[in-house]
Amino acid sequence: MEKKIYSVAVDGPSGAGKSTLAKAAAAKLGIVYVDTGAIYRSIGYYVYRKGIDPKDAPAVIAILPELDIRMCYGEDGVQRMILNGEDVSAQIRLPEMSMYASAVSAIPEVRTFLLEMQRQIARTTAVIMDGRDIGTVVLPDAEVKIFLTASAEIRARRRMKELEQRGTPQPFEEVLQQIVERDWADSHREAAPLKQADDAVLLDTGLLNFEESLTALLNIIREKVGV
Ligand code: DC
Repeated sequence: MEKKIYSVAVDGPSGAGKSTLAKAAAAKLGIVYVDTGAIYRSIGYYVYRKGIDPKDAPAVIAILPELDIRMCYGEDGVQRMILNGEDVSAQIRLPEMSMYASAVSAIPEVRTFLLEMQRQIARTTAVIMDGRDIGTVVLPDAEVKIFLTASAEIRARRRMKELEQRGTPQPFEEVLQQIVERDWADSHREAAPLKQADDAVLLDTGLLNFEESLTALLNIIREKVGV
C-alpha cells in the first residue's frame, strides 16, 4: 500500500516543546520529523565561526554561496545537520547559537536560500515540520497546522530544567529574559515573522504534561488527516 503523503506544520515560540513533541508524534505516526530551527542554527554557527556579526546582513549574505547544508537521519532516527561535510549537530545546540540563529533568520535572503530545501522534503514524504513560519510561508497548504505555545514563564522554567540536565544551569531571570528577547525578535522581524496561521489550531501546553500534550497533538493530526 502506498504511504499517504501529508504535511503537519508545527509553529510556535522557542521553548514551547515543539521539537520534543513533534519528534515523538513523528515516531508514533511513522513519518519524518524536520527541525527547521536546526537549519538556521547551522547558518548561525557558520557565521559565528567566521567571526561575522550575525546582524550584518551583507556579510551574512556574502557567505551563503559557501554553504552546503544537508540533513540526514541517524539509525536512531535523530536528525543530524551536515555543514560542508562536517556533522555540526552538537555545536548548533550551544546556547549562544540561539541568538545567532535568530539574527541570521531575520535576513530575507537567508530565508529564501532555505525555502526550497524545506519544501522539497515535504514533497517527497509525509512530514511533521517545526519552526516559526512553516504554516504561513514554507508549507501554506499543509494538511494540518498547529500553533504550539505556553507562557514565557512556563517556557523559561522548562528551559531551565533542560539546561540543568545538560550540566549548564542558568538563573531563571536570565533564561526568561533570553526567551522574551527571542520571542520579540522572531515575531517582529519583517521577513516571515513568527505568527499563528489563520487556519492553525492553537495548542497551549502550559497546563499539560508531556503525555497530555502529545495526545492532544496526535488527536488534532488524526482528526484532520484520518491516519
Ligand atoms: O527552533 P529553534 O530555537 O532551534 O530556532 C532557532 C532560531 O531560528 C529561532 O530563534 C528563529 C529561527 N527560525 C526561523 O526563523 N524559522 C524557522 N522555521 C525555524 C527557526
